[in-house]
Amino acid sequence: MLEKFVIKGCKRLKGKVRISGAKNSALPLLAASILSDEGLILENVPDVADVRTMLKALELLGVKYNFDRDKNRIEIDSSSVKPVEIPYDIIRRMRASVLLMGPLLARFKKAYVYTPGGCAIGARPIDLHIEAFKKLGADYKVKEGYSILKTKKLKGNFIYFDKVTVTGTENVIMASVFAEGETVIENAAIEPEVVDLCNCLVKMGANIEGIGTKSLKIEGVKRLKKISHKVIPDRIEAGTFIIAAAVTNGKVEIENVNPSHLDSFLSKVKDAGVNLEVKENVILVKGTSTINPVDIETSPYPGFPTDLQAQFMVLMLKADGVSHIKENIFENRFQHVQELIRLGADIKLDGNTAIVKGGNPLTGADVMATDLRASASLVLAGLFAKGVTKVHRIYHLDRGYESFEEKLKKLGAAIKREGD
Ligand code: UD1
Repeated sequence: MLEKFVIKGCKRLKGKVRISGAKNSALPLLAASILSDEGLILENVPDVADVRTMLKALELLGVKYNFDRDKNRIEIDSSSVKPVEIPYDIIRRMRASVLLMGPLLARFKKAYVYTPGGCAIGARPIDLHIEAFKKLGADYKVKEGYSILKTKKLKGNFIYFDKVTVTGTENVIMASVFAEGETVIENAAIEPEVVDLCNCLVKMGANIEGIGTKSLKIEGVKRLKKISHKVIPDRIEAGTFIIAAAVTNGKVEIENVNPSHLDSFLSKVKDAGVNLEVKENVILVKGTSTINPVDIETSPYPGFPTDLQAQFMVLMLKADGVSHIKENIFENRFQHVQELIRLGADIKLDGNTAIVKGGNPLTGADVMATDLRASASLVLAGLFAKGVTKVHRIYHLDRGYESFEEKLKKLGAAIKREGD
């Protein structure tokens, strides 16, 4: 059943919110669990739809698992995994299922994964993943929709990514953990989630040097063992709650966050005039009634994250002046703009730049979620719009935010979930 959020705006948020584990870390870590013939224990795993989809894919491969949802802990037994097909039904729900290609290729020397199509925010090809697998010695073809990768033996090689790709880097790291000799990845993504994956793999017994830099060196090992690993906090969820506090002129303590993962974002939020007190694992946000216009442009880590672009735009709707928001990662990531305009926002698009004139009062309306982060931005706008905002198709949001409305409710927001 389709569901919507019904939000009554203009409530100041107050209190504490605990940030969940990072979805974008949990997904590659779950995929990595099949690299070991024993399994993996993951702590701080968010109970979100994308995680459930990845678990479904792992189940198809023969993984057995126990997900203690109250403790956010998953124990995985990957002793009887078989490299069967990952079908369209899985890939159409979640593109990140392509993260199984690397581990399947590494452990079984073959992978059959349905080829992903484009998605709402852009074409999102996987050519860079495939080219890198080929360099490691895999043959590649597409048959009846499936991407088929096969090899007799993977051998280390030099891989240079023309473009920074997060899941591409993760896939190739996982593909190369058993490859003969040394694999070098240049222009690797350095997102905290890539680092988290590398740290977990090293604990499992992988040999990876240069973690956290753009140049990774991986020396093949024979096998990986079962260990326990705690997923890092979700920096995107933390950023979303920071904006929620700021736009409602609230006072919110964001707990279980790693502020160093949010440097560029926090710096822009501070420039906007929001009061932030940053401690080791906590960020205290004190809203203000005047917001300054601030320009941003998205770029790979440590730049401003594309996954917080839509949410930051909502902050700029409250700014006293004009700001420019440039999207450099995905070609179609402004679908929230038309919906925000429906609420009364003044935003013009010029190519990949949104020109946001802040200060217009927003009034509640029916709006449609189009993708995960765009949905979050519509909820944020609803939190300070006058009257009632209904955000439809929130299944997009459920893919990546754990207990979003419960967390907002605890902070004093008037939000409820209803059938559509
Ligand atoms: C990951 C994140 C997503 C985030 C994005 C950018 C996960 C599960 N998802 O997505 O939330 O928005 O990083 O930070 O971690 N590209 C190619 N060819 C390829 C691969 C990528 O052209 O083979 C392009 C993409 O179309 C895009 C850019 O490279 O324009 C960056 O994409 P990428 O970093 O790969 O995004 P994802 O890993 O899919």
